[in-house]
Amino acid sequence: MHLHQLLAILITLAGLAYSCIHGPTELNNAIEEPATSQDQLQPEPVPMPGFDPVDVEDQSQRLHLQLRGITQQPNYQCGPKYGTCPSGTCCSSAGFCGTTTAHCRSPDCMLDYGLCDTHRSPKGPLTKDIPRPHIGRVPYGPQEIRSCTVPGTIALTFDDGPTRYTGDLLDLLDRYDAPATFFITGINNGKGPIDDPSLPWADLIERMTISGHQIASHTWSHEDLSKITAEQRQDQMLKNEVAIRNILGSFPTYMRPPYSSCVPGSGCREALGDLGYHIVLYDFDTDDYKNDSPNLIQLSKDIFDRFLNAGNSKTNSWLIIAHDAHEQTVHNLTEHMLKTSARLGYRPVTVGDCLRDPRDNWYRADSSWTGHQNKKKSPQKGPKKSNAPQQISVDGTCGANYTCLGSRFGICCSSKNLCGNTTSHCGHGCKKEAGYCAVHVPSNGDAWDPLSPGSKGAKSEADSNGRVVGTAAVTSLVLALIVAMWM
Ligand SMILES: *[C@@H]1O[C@H](CO)[C@@H](O)[C@H](O)[C@H]1NC(C)=O
Ligand SMILES: *[C@@H]1O[C@H](CO)[C@@H](O)[C@H](O)[C@H]1NC(C)=O
Ligand SMILES: *[C@@H]1O[C@H](CO)[C@@H](O)[C@H](O)[C@H]1NC(C)=O
Ligand SMILES: [Zn+2]
Repeated sequence: MHLHQLLAILITLAGLAYSCIHGPTELNNAIEEPATSQDQLQPEPVPMPGFDPVDVEDQSQRLHLQLRGITQQPNYQCGPKYGTCPSGTCCSSAGFCGTTTAHCRSPDCMLDYGLCDTHRSPKGPLTKDIPRPHIGRVPYGPQEIRSCTVPGTIALTFDDGPTRYTGDLLDLLDRYDAPATFFITGINNGKGPIDDPSLPWADLIERMTISGHQIASHTWSHEDLSKITAEQRQDQMLKNEVAIRNILGSFPTYMRPPYSSCVPGSGCREALGDLGYHIVLYDFDTDDYKNDSPNLIQLSKDIFDRFLNAGNSKTNSWLIIAHDAHEQTVHNLTEHMLKTSARLGYRPVTVGDCLRDPRDNWYRADSSWTGHQNKKKSPQKGPKKSNAPQQISVDGTCGANYTCLGSRFGICCSSKNLCGNTTSHCGHGCKKEAGYCAVHVPSNGDAWDPLSPGSKGAKSEADSNGRVVGTAAVTSLVLALIVAMWM
């Protein structure tokens, strides 16, 4: 074995040792987390120790430098110091080339140094040339909207989804009859494109509109709009439009910039105005992404209570940010927010409603769009034709002879032959012949990756990130061995 072969292997082992010593959590915090889960803390980007993307870049640079001290820039590394990956491969957040979900998932993947999910495009006609008049009284960009205007309303907003938790959240909101607003990201965190019919996301988005929620845009792949080029920024908006249009036939006029970052001087706010978007921020942040554990989520509840108790439902209104990417947000915090706000006399509404903007203004229709050839019928179109004439269920049971469509028990027929509107009715096992079926509940992580059994049982973003880093390290080892064999 030649010296440089040995060297290449040693380098890789050093890299692995580094991640073992420091553990996936730290590596994770340093490299993965800021890009994946949180929006910035304040409406104006205020750096937070340990969470500032700049800080993260520094740390990842340091990691590069450490490795560089003993390497000769082996060609499986990438990034500002190393350059671009070989054609067709992605540059991971840790600076390694590869083709796995871990390498290509955006926004972590370095979009200027290789392929990324960011570069994938939804199919179908472009939305670029659709006219974007500024209709209604709610201001469009460059102005930012930070609060509601209708007293007594509370607009709960959920960013970064849909995710594997979103079905449960929709059940909860149904139960409280509480409309909310979803700021949808098209292809973040390795979940695949939202309009891919083999993934659960499109059905969840459809269910949101059926349940009276508002759909808004949170960009295609969650890049920081202040840090990319004007062309990349436009791509971030237009690709998400195409994907949402592929699901709903129209696309949103409301958006929230990832990390709430759309800084003056970057041209971001003006560009969003030109594209006909309302830029929506918030009154206060629940910090839910920082408190995603049963031990910590009380902190978010306290923030929520503090703000709401300081106001009065006769005069105040609230525009609140949370994330359906987090388990505790969906299974714990949201019910607390719903209960508390109801007790204090607030009415849960969508962002459009809390600004008194008529529903027609929330979306732009694409008149050229004729829909999917193989798209299933929307439930509003009434009972579907079938061989046996079906009667509407009168007792909540359904099956061969009774349909849930039009019944007062809900529109979906569960595997247990009961009508209802929850994910357990409309999801796995749902009977298409006896009602509407919306949600194919994913059995693994929000990184919807059928090829990755390792993601099963991942409980949180942090866990799945740990897996991601591990996978990246292993892939790097394999790449290093290949490189060594070439030499
Ligand atoms: C919900 O949050 C509380 C703290 O507010 C915590 O004690 C409880 O364990 C959490 N419940 C679940 C199911 O995680
Ligand atoms: C449905 O109706 C048909 C004909 O009326 C009957 O033969 C069949 O047993 C019914 N099926 C169920 C599950 O009740
Ligand atoms: C179920 O959802 C449909 C469609 O939105 C709605 O019309 C119906 O009232 C809901 N039924 C129940 C029981 O929630
Ligand atoms: Zn976000």
